[in-house]
Amino acid sequence: MYSEIVMDHFTNPRNAGVIEDADGVGEVGNPQCGDMMTFYIKVKDDTLVDVKFQTFGCVAAIAVSSLVSEMAKGKKLDEAQQITRQGVAQALGGLPPNKMHCSNLGAEALSLAINNYQEKKGGAAASPTHGNQESEVNS
Ligand code: FES
Repeated sequence: MYSEIVMDHFTNPRNAGVIEDADGVGEVGNPQCGDMMTFYIKVKDDTLVDVKFQTFGCVAAIAVSSLVSEMAKGKKLDEAQQITRQGVAQALGGLPPNKMHCSNLGAEALSLAINNYQEKKGGAAASPTHGNQESEVNS
């Protein structure tokens, strides 16, 4: 079953909520279980000064979100990108094997939020937006 650390984060999640003017947002879903996780970050001097999350998911997913938000807060972006699902599971005192995918969601959503911030900052050069070219050659 779940460790005491998991139950603590599940019953008393840290940093739950939304950052309205977030610098980066990352959302992931697991198609198998249908659970969803969104991370919001605020960045200053390449450091995560605030991290919040919204999670619609299982006990493990909520505990993972809470723990990842705590682990990430105050870290440099490149350090935060190194948070892995194994590291998360370990910090939670272990997860049942069939719940390891839940820890993956946390690391991935955070990583996507950081990528989102970096894309915005870099002018989105690496990710062209759809529909920004109007072609009117149909006459
Ligand atoms: S069962 Fe879906 S995230 Fe845990």
